[in-house]
Amino acid sequence: MSKRALITGASSGIGLELAMIFAREGFNLVLSARREERLMNLKEELENTHSIQVHVFAADLSKSDAPDSLFQFCTNQDLQIDVLINNAGIGDYGFFSEADWDKTATMIDLNIKSLTQLTHLFLPGMIERGTGKIMNVASTASFQPGPLMSVYYATKHYVLAFSEALANEVADYDITVTALCPGPTQSEFQETANMEKSKLMDRFPMPSSADVAQYGFNALQNGKRVAIYGVANKIMASIIKFFPRRWVTAVVRKIQERE
Ligand SMILES: NC(=O)c1ccc[n+]([C@@H]2O[C@H](COP(=O)([O-])OP(=O)(O)OC[C@H]3O[C@@H](n4cnc5c(N)ncnc54)[C@H](OP(=O)(O)O)[C@@H]3O)[C@@H](O)[C@H]2O)c1
Repeated sequence: MSKRALITGASSGIGLELAMIFAREGFNLVLSARREERLMNLKEELENTHSIQVHVFAADLSKSDAPDSLFQFCTNQDLQIDVLINNAGIGDYGFFSEADWDKTATMIDLNIKSLTQLTHLFLPGMIERGTGKIMNVASTASFQPGPLMSVYYATKHYVLAFSEALANEVADYDITVTALCPGPTQSEFQETANMEKSKLMDRFPMPSSADVAQYGFNALQNGKRVAIYGVANKIMASIIKFFPRRWVTAVVRKIQERE
C-alpha cells in the first residue's frame, strides 16, 4: 500500500516542490495551505500525472483550531499519515519595535505553535504503528540570533531545538525527525517577509526551491537529524559556535541591513 505524506505550506516554494517529489515517488498526499485554488490545481496536476490520491485541506494554520481540524479531517477520512512535513512558515523583516503585532503573533503561531501541535497530534499514531517520519523546516537562521528579523530567527531556533530533542525521544521507535535548514532560497518567502531589499538577498546566490526540496527529501529518507542545505551553510553553522555571540549578532545585523 502506498504511504501518505502530509505537507503544510504546499501552495508555493519548498512545500510545493516537496509535493511534486513525494508524488513522483508514489506517495499519496494531504496538502495544506490557505490558497485553496492553488492546492486544487496542484491536486489535479499530480493525480493526472501520477497514480496517487491527493487530499486538500485549505486553512490558515496560525488559527488556534486549525491543526486540530486538519487532524480531524485526516481521521474522519481514514487518511493515515506516515510522513509529516511541517513546512508552512513566514518571516518578517524590520526592527521588532516597529513590527506589526498581528503579523508577529501570526508568525509565532504558525512557525512554532501549529508545527508543534501537528506533531503532537500525528506522532501518537506513528508510535502506535512503530514507524513514521517527520520533517520540520527550520533554517540556517536557527543557528544564531538575527537582528532585523529577531522573532523569525528565534522561531527557527525553536524548530531546530524541538526537532533534535524529539528525534532523541522517538529513537527507540522506527521514527525519525529531520530538521531541514535551508539558507536563503528562491520562493515567495522574501516577498511575504518584506525583505527584498535586505542585503542578505543581494549578496548570496539563492538555490531553487526544487533543489532544497530534493535535498530535504533525501535527508528525510535517510533519517538525517539536522540537514543543512549547501556546503557554505554547513561550514557556517559548524564554526559559528566558536565565535563570540555578540560579534556574530553584529555581523548578522550588517548582513541584514538595507542598502
Ligand atoms: N525561502 C527561504 O529563503 C527560506 C530559508 C530558510 C527557511 N525557509 C523556510 O521554508 C519554509 C517554506 O518557505 P518557502 O521559502 O517555501 O516560502 P513560501 O514560498 O512563501 O511558502 C510558504 C508556504 O507557507 C504557507 N503559509 C503561509 N502562511 C500560512 C498560514 N497562515 N497558514 C497556512 N499556510 C501558510 C504558504 O501558503 P498560503 O499563502 O497559500 O497559505 C506557502 O505555501 C518556511 O518555514 C520558511 O521559514 C525559507
